[in-house]
Amino acid sequence: MTVARLTLDPSFTVGPVDRRLFGSFVEHMGRCVYTGVFEPGHPGADDGGLRTDVLELVRELGVTTVRYPGGNFVSGYRWEDGVGPVGDRPRRLDLAWRSIESNAFGLNEFMRWAGLAGVEPMMAVNLGTRGVAEAAELVEYCNLDTGTAAADLRRKHGVARPHDIRMWCLGNEMDGPWQIGNLTAEEYGRLAARAGHAMRRVDPGIELVACGSSDGDMPTFAAWEATVLEHAYDQVDYLSLHSYYDPERYDEASFRASAVHLDEFVDAVVATADFVRAKLRRTKRIRLALDEWNVWYKSRLVEPEDRDIEDTPALIEDEYTVTDAMVVGNLLISMLRHADRLTVGCQAQLVNIIAPIRTLPGGPAWRQTIFHPFAHTARLARGTVLLPAITGPAMTTGHYGEVPAVDAVATVDGTALTVFAVNRGTEPIPLHIDLRAFPGHRPGEHLVLAADDHRLTNTAADPQRVTPDVRRSSTEVLLPPVSWHALSFTIEEKP
Ligand code: AHR
Repeated sequence: MTVARLTLDPSFTVGPVDRRLFGSFVEHMGRCVYTGVFEPGHPGADDGGLRTDVLELVRELGVTTVRYPGGNFVSGYRWEDGVGPVGDRPRRLDLAWRSIESNAFGLNEFMRWAGLAGVEPMMAVNLGTRGVAEAAELVEYCNLDTGTAAADLRRKHGVARPHDIRMWCLGNEMDGPWQIGNLTAEEYGRLAARAGHAMRRVDPGIELVACGSSDGDMPTFAAWEATVLEHAYDQVDYLSLHSYYDPERYDEASFRASAVHLDEFVDAVVATADFVRAKLRRTKRIRLALDEWNVWYKSRLVEPEDRDIEDTPALIEDEYTVTDAMVVGNLLISMLRHADRLTVGCQAQLVNIIAPIRTLPGGPAWRQTIFHPFAHTARLARGTVLLPAITGPAMTTGHYGEVPAVDAVATVDGTALTVFAVNRGTEPIPLHIDLRAFPGHRPGEHLVLAADDHRLTNTAADPQRVTPDVRRSSTEVLLPPVSWHALSFTIEEKP
């Protein structure tokens, strides 16, 4: 067996862990909102119809930030439909998913939910079928105290204090031909700059996210980012990127090595943003928001055009395996490795739709396999990211060639040191962790997510089948095939 060696040093730092890396996403799509987070009449629902069993799991997951209300949905959405007396709200045809939107849940319900979940909202505006005026008015509704029509309308709707939403997405995936009202990079760059300018006139303290590519493999990738930023560099703080990994797209080994793709994608977006910075001779650096990412069995998606219009259809409710959980853990490792520029992440989505949390209407809520690496990384990854030096065996993939079988990153926060590691290969690998730079280190907890059968899933009938094993950490461990690990140590704090 070839051994993997991982060496850590307190001076090999990447940057601080931004808590916004552990975000998620709630879209009006399928059963994410309706019968997901919101189900009046459910035995566990509160007076406002919010499922308290789901809220408890969201808090346990450790989600910090939640993007809302879409996704493709936002590109046809009228936010005004979802506020005010529920009985007056219209039923609309949602063009993105060809579903009926009852509008029983809207902005103020979401903000109440976000408060109970303890998450920061990340609000998206519609730049598909709407524009500058509606975006600015939404900021006014949310963030101004009183004395203007939109602020006073919010008060009339029973919300006296401003929501004070800091982060705003300027549309969604505007490069995608599937997007309602999709635009060219030139058109979108100008619109994002104009909308951002007006939104900042309402509230100069907001942070703005421009749409980057909806996938690293889009034919317009990189040229899109460069053109958009050439128009909107001064208005925006973040550039978004979306990346989903389909277990059925390439060979299985390539899927297990998906984080290789994310590493390259993030590096390329950083390079493109810095190219525009140099071209425009600016000093500000654009940060990255990976505001949709996950494993998604995308090849199983039935396109909206091929479905009948339905009310709350069960869409893309993927059931995740042990392998999927290892990949999710590895994608989080990749995100932490880029923590100097990638500071926002939103796993897509939170409930039912390609989600860590599943529910049954009127029934239970449970944790999918991917819940566990997310929850423990969100809990343990704190302080500063450290980049380890790693040597070890390689594995062969059909799409990415030879790649390291072991991948890892670490964080240090006072006396807490945690190593996050995966074995993405199919052979067990002994791992030696060199902590000579941390004299006096002591072992803590070692969480292991692994199973002999990598296809195991959690279901409503068997919700605890896949859960991490808790062991004592050590600098000498054996990483089983296709496994995820969090190894904690107590170290002596620097004087
Ligand atoms: O998360 C599902 C969909 O994936 C979102 O609506 C869209 O933004 C992306 O293509």
